[in-house]
Parts: sequence; C-alpha cells; structure tokens
Amino acid sequence: MSDKATLEINGQKHEFPLITGTENEVAIDIKALRSVTGGVTTIDPGYKNTGSCVSAITFLDGEKGILRYRGYSIEELAEKADFLEVAYLLIFGELPTQEQLDKFHSDIKKHSVVDDDVKKILDAFPKSAHPMGVLSSLTSALTAFNPSSVNVDSEEEMYNAIVRILGKFPILVAWTMRKKMGLPLDYGSSSLGYVENILQMMFKRPDENYEQNPILVNALDKLLILHADHEQNCSTSTVRIVGSSHAGLFASLSAGISALWGPLHGGANQAVIEMLEAIKEDGGDTKKYMGKAKDKEDPFRLMGFGHRVYKNFDPRARIIKKAADDVLGDLGVEDPILDIAKGLEKEALEDDYFVKRKLYPNVDFYSGIIYRSMNIPVEMFTVMFALGRLPGWIAQWREMRLNKEPIGRPRQVYTGETLRSFKGINER
Ligand code: CMC
Repeated sequence: MSDKATLEINGQKHEFPLITGTENEVAIDIKALRSVTGGVTTIDPGYKNTGSCVSAITFLDGEKGILRYRGYSIEELAEKADFLEVAYLLIFGELPTQEQLDKFHSDIKKHSVVDDDVKKILDAFPKSAHPMGVLSSLTSALTAFNPSSVNVDSEEEMYNAIVRILGKFPILVAWTMRKKMGLPLDYGSSSLGYVENILQMMFKRPDENYEQNPILVNALDKLLILHADHEQNCSTSTVRIVGSSHAGLFASLSAGISALWGPLHGGANQAVIEMLEAIKEDGGDTKKYMGKAKDKEDPFRLMGFGHRVYKNFDPRARIIKKAADDVLGDLGVEDPILDIAKGLEKEALEDDYFVKRKLYPNVDFYSGIIYRSMNIPVEMFTVMFALGRLPGWIAQWREMRLNKEPIGRPRQVYTGETLRSFKGINER
C-alpha cells in the first residue's frame, strides 16, 4: 500500500502522509491540510471518521469485537486481574509487580480522606439531586481544597496527583450515595482492599459491622474492570480536550463526568433499567417496544443497544451477560426484568431492522441488572460507571499531557448571515 493519500481540489493535487498504528489501522495525516490548501478544512460531525490523537492505551476493533487494555484482552483481564492492577496497567502501561501494587495501594490509602468542608458542599444539595450532578460538582470542588497545579514534567508530582484522586474519588462516590439514602457520611477502612473498601463506604450502616460478601466484591471488581477504559469516547475525549487547555486534573475529570451522564453514553445503564421496568409494568409486551424502537416517528430507542464503534458485538456485553446470570444465581435473586432483557435481546438479534444496522447489546444492557441485585439505587448506576472509568480518564489525561498535545480547538464551516449593517431598534 502507498504511504500517501492524494487529494485533488480545483485541479490541484495535494499529498498527505498515511500513518499506521501497531494494529495496522491507517489514518490520513491532515495536519498540513489548511496550510497547503489555503484554508480548506474537513467536516465530520460526531467525529465518526476523525482521529483526535495517537494513543497507546486501549485498542478496540468494532468489527471483530476486540477490546484490549495495553495489549491485554478484556476477557483475560476480567477473569484474572483485579481493578487496582488494571488501573495501574492503564495509567502506567505495564502490569505492576506485587511490590509496585502494594506501594500504589498504600499511597492511595494515604490520600483516602477529603477536607471536612466537602461535607458542607454536599449538605447544600437537595436529596433529590441526581448523583451524577453531585459527583461532578464535588470532583470540581476538590480543586478548591487542592489548588496547586501539577507540574506534569515531574514524574513525582504526576504520580502524587494520580494517587490523590484515586484515593478521594471513591469517598465522593460513596458520600453521593449515602446522601441520597440519608446515611451519615463516613470513611472506610485502610485494612480493606480497594473494592472492598468502596462497598463498605457505600453500604455500612452506623449501627452495624459491614460483612463483606465475596460475590459482590467479585461482581463489582469485574464491572469496574469492564468499564475502565474505552479509548476516545465522548467523556474521555471531553477529559482530554478540557485538559488540553491545561485545566487541572480534577476540573478535567469533572467535565468527563458531565459528559458521561447523558443517556446516549454512560446514562444508558440507568435508562435501560427504567425501560425494562416500564416494559414490565406495561405487561411485558416486548414486541410493542421493538415496534416503537423501529418507528422513525417515535423518539424511543432501545436503550443498551447499538454502539458507535462495535458493529458485531460488544465483548463487554458478553462478559456482563454471563456475570448477570452468575451473580443473580449466587445471590439467589430472581429478577423478572432479566428475562425481559433476554427476550428483547433475542428478538432484536433476529430482527431485520437491528441486524441491518448492526445493533447489538452494549455494555450497559445487563450492567444495571447486576447493580440492582447489589442494592445499588438506579440513579447511582452511572456513578458506578464513572468509578470504573476513572483510571481510563486519568491514563488518557496523562498521555495527552505527556505527549504535549496542543489545545483542542476544532474548526467549523460557517453557514450564518454574511456581513450586514446594524439597524437601530426603531427600524427593525
Ligand atoms: N434503538 C433503535 N434504533 C437505533 C438504536 C437504538 N438503540 N441505536 C441506533 N439506532 C438506529 C438509528 O436510528 C439509525 O437508524 P437510521 O440509519 O435508520 O437513521 C442507525 O441505527 C444508526 O444510529 P446512529 O444514532 O447514527 O449511531 P451512532 O453511532 O451515532 O450512535 C449510540 C450510537 C450508542 C448513541 C446509539 O446506538 C444509541 O443511541 N443507543 C442507545 C443508547 C445506549 O445504549 N448508549 C450506550 C452506549 S455503550 C456505553 C458507552 O460507552 O457509553
């Protein structure tokens, strides 16, 4: 294959280099486009064809249903690794040795505290506030208590910023849920593993010891791993673009949380459960909802179906579907909406509309069913996604800063009024 692409505009030919990734993905490098063509730009709403960066963190092949973090398959990581190891892998590029992992965990624990005034900020929110709005605000508020900016050229400062947020974020997550449930705010225990501690911080009641249930620990560990990174999705691109202005890590993460909130992105896990509940309440008529999803006059979409990149299957969905069966079985929970979900999936996979458009269940189709069996309130589901995605956002922010990427600033094609004269208010 040639290593150049030729573009002809008004009879003039311009050559652009091709760049090839380690998995043979090819991209046309158009960095020089505007300068060599005298200002011609490209237009690609939703960036369906546009690579915003080169990245060595996550590889995914949507046609083949492949997802790998730093070269390791998601299937192998979900089976053999724990979340903290995966976080280390994503952020620093290699699996940690036991010694590195112990140090990483112990450094995170040192930062597992937030300023007590954060409680006052949380207190000011009404109980009805959506947890994603609360989490995004609290994450941004951390900037006020840790105002010094990170010198990204210092490995030590970068490392400290990373362990700091990995220590504080689970507290914000747990407090967000405890506020919703009217439980007192408290800290976990430094003798626990990272995921065990999260569960204790979320669920411990003031009058009881919290008994760890290994089924829940394993389930949460796996869910967090499956959500830990997904290359340049909406929230990750947001974190990178906000960080590209050299805004701090907390501010960049807070913006990422807001991006994740929407129902087309991380908010889908909440939307799926609400949809399955509505179908159940409506008598379980899945055909009616399939019809609505296919009707172009109806804004209803089958939540948890379709993906911008996966056009064959979402490997995370396969793992989660099996985990949902296992976890509900192990916990002895029978949830009728699991059957509705399986019924919908079967119908969609045999339906021409879904087959033609390559719409398959995505990671969020079954995750909510597991969260629900763990007694996590439905409005917290997207917060749990954010907790899992945290190491991915950090890894992408770090890579962007270390690569010294320029500030993100897309172009546009202007379609508004051309120059016109101002009319005084009496002439309009
Ligand atoms: N139900 C019904 N029709 C759909 C759906 C759906 N869930 N998803 C896509 N379509 C149709 C869409 O109407 C369009 O049809 P046509 O070609 O006739 O106009 C076609 O499929 C292509 O859809 P699109 O919206 O152009 O595709 P996209 O790549 O822009 O959107 C998506 C991807 C995930 C936003 C979309 O599939 C969707 O809205 N799904 C439901 C929300 C959801 O589950 N989101 C979670 C994504 S995975 C978790 C994450 O990483 O965020």
